[in-house]
Amino acid sequence: MEFPHLSSPITIGSVTIKNRMFMAPMDTGFGNTEWGGFTREGIEYFVRRAEGGFGLLFSGGTNGDCVVDGCDGILNHPEEFIAQGKELNSRIAEYGSRMFIQLSMNVGRNGGLKTPSPLPTLGDPNVITKALTIEEIRTKVSEMGKAAKLCKDAGFAGVDIHAMHWGHLLDSFALAFMNHREDEYGGSLENRIRVAKEIVEAIRYECGPDFPVTMRLALKSYMKGFNQASFDGSEEVGRTPEEAIEIGKLLESYGYDGLSVDAGTLDAFYYAMPPSYIPQGFMLDMASKLKKAVNIPVLCGGRMADPEMNEKAIAEGKIDAAVIGRQAIADPDYGNKVMAEKPEEIRTCIGCNQGCIWGYFCTGRVGCAVNPEVGYEGVKAIKEADSKKNVAIVGGGAAGMEAARVLKLRGHNVTLYEKSGILGGNLIPAGAHDFKKEIGALTEYYRNQMKSLNVDIRMNTEVNADILKASHADAVILATGSVPVMPRSIEGIEKAVSGVDALLGKKPVGKNVVIVGGGLVGCEIAYGYAKEGRHVTIVEALDQILNLNNVPGMNKAMLLDAFEFYGTQIYTGTKLKSVSDDGAVVELSDGTEKKLDADTVILSIGYRPLPSMKESLSGSGIPVYEIGDGHKVGNVMSCIAEAYDTAMNL
Ligand SMILES: Cc1cc2nc3c(=O)[nH]c(=O)nc-3n(C[C@H](O)[C@H](O)[C@H](O)COP(=O)(O)O)c2cc1C
Ligand code: SF4
Repeated sequence: MEFPHLSSPITIGSVTIKNRMFMAPMDTGFGNTEWGGFTREGIEYFVRRAEGGFGLLFSGGTNGDCVVDGCDGILNHPEEFIAQGKELNSRIAEYGSRMFIQLSMNVGRNGGLKTPSPLPTLGDPNVITKALTIEEIRTKVSEMGKAAKLCKDAGFAGVDIHAMHWGHLLDSFALAFMNHREDEYGGSLENRIRVAKEIVEAIRYECGPDFPVTMRLALKSYMKGFNQASFDGSEEVGRTPEEAIEIGKLLESYGYDGLSVDAGTLDAFYYAMPPSYIPQGFMLDMASKLKKAVNIPVLCGGRMADPEMNEKAIAEGKIDAAVIGRQAIADPDYGNKVMAEKPEEIRTCIGCNQGCIWGYFCTGRVGCAVNPEVGYEGVKAIKEADSKKNVAIVGGGAAGMEAARVLKLRGHNVTLYEKSGILGGNLIPAGAHDFKKEIGALTEYYRNQMKSLNVDIRMNTEVNADILKASHADAVILATGSVPVMPRSIEGIEKAVSGVDALLGKKPVGKNVVIVGGGLVGCEIAYGYAKEGRHVTIVEALDQILNLNNVPGMNKAMLLDAFEFYGTQIYTGTKLKSVSDDGAVVELSDGTEKKLDADTVILSIGYRPLPSMKESLSGSGIPVYEIGDGHKVGNVMSCIAEAYDTAMNL
């Protein structure tokens, strides 16, 4: 497949961008100073994405106004910002890339800051925000103009206005149900987006007519109320795609040079940060309707990682460019791989939200399940090893293949033993859902890497300690993985199906399903079957499902809303007692027993490591490393991170 449209240049305002693969605005935690300048890590992170072929890079949201909300911002540090900007822009220019700063009016009620009208703060409806005065609005607007001029002076190619999305300040002005003002900033649509008009005018005044200005615009809010998402989008109190088209036309008439579109608010966060449960390209239809109504470029974001889909969408005139977020975190070389017509080499973002947005929320730093180098660009880059070793790896799952990849790139000799006839391990069942296709693509990526790096793979080969001792390996890595827990103490357990067997289609699954185990794996299995129209019941021993901290909040919110939507029955504080041919007996939280009728009882109560060979290798003199689930049961992120670190230190 060729990608002529994705690889072709595009002009936004006065600036020509070399291709149509744009890196979405994403705050990283590590990349910015508290006032919005760039840290050394931040500069290296962006330069790496320019080197990897992205035509345009957007910065994360950067405070334009630092007066009204009393926060720090770039205008308080002009000299430092200009010095950082000049370095960053000259370095990305070496790769022919350009960069826009995403200038923010701030987050309004999402951060408990001032809003157009008093509003319940996100997450704490008892705290009501204060309304901005007209004077404060004018101050904000003129500060945005001055901040844009500073960005221009620092060498940035344009600014993206943050944002009529996520329920942030500008969004809350535009949304009728959040804006109850009776002055010129409230009421009609024109009044509600007057601030956006004044911002572009202020920028033109400060920067002249040729400095590009785009707007980040959600085409649909997916909200049924404060702190409530509309799962299927049918109950909308926020923006509809029809209103978004009217906004787009007005923004064009005000002088905006492009519209960077996405969806959702923080109240409906799973549409803004879509987990893999939301299909690739879910915004394309809405974006294409907007494109028909305006003459400025429409840049489409939100699950736009598939290059073939992007190529087709641009070729068909549905959108002008793809705004690619998490996939740019997962593989900085996405652009180059597309332009080289090697999409099979793209390390696929699996839409898990685990390392990136959830990492950011939980630790203040973006990480990535499939790219352990993110945030450490230049520091953690794979380098040739000083002394080359013969390394034997046992197990061809995610951990084993990542270790093999990194070791080969470092120049080691690698032999990988896999006892089955296929590489992938637990990635294979994990990628079986139709909403987990990216895990399947990641598995393919690893298989391709094994081939292109010439890893010596011994399939259908079960090794033991004696074979490894005789193999003359300088080091052994055990990546033997895990198997589902199936407690023998439970009566009739042999009649239950493990989640893995169900996903692999090894056992038939009926119309009426009881799933025991309400962790992420069990709930995803439940979601898959509920979506197919089966009657699903979840049984969980703890007092809530999806109880672990490492389940990203937006994934959890979407699954909970899905269960409500599909009528999935959930029993918490409930233990499995026995399994029979026609269902399961459980002990409810009040101690009583209940029979749950089912055609199939699926057990998804966790995994246990396979027995280790480490002990039998002791005394051999060969250093042995255990990684992945076989070492400690975790997830894709922990397996890949441990494999990468082990391989980097050998
Ligand atoms: C860690 C992280 C931080 C983000 N920060 C911003 C931001 O500062 N401004 C913004 O407009 N969008 C932000 N986003 C949203 C992305 O621009 C993008 O819309 C979202 O990731 C969905 O697109 P994707 O499926 O390509 O990742 C952020 C996303 C992530 C993962
Ligand atoms: S953590 Fe998961 S969703 Fe986030 S960028 Fe990495 S693979 Fe994609």
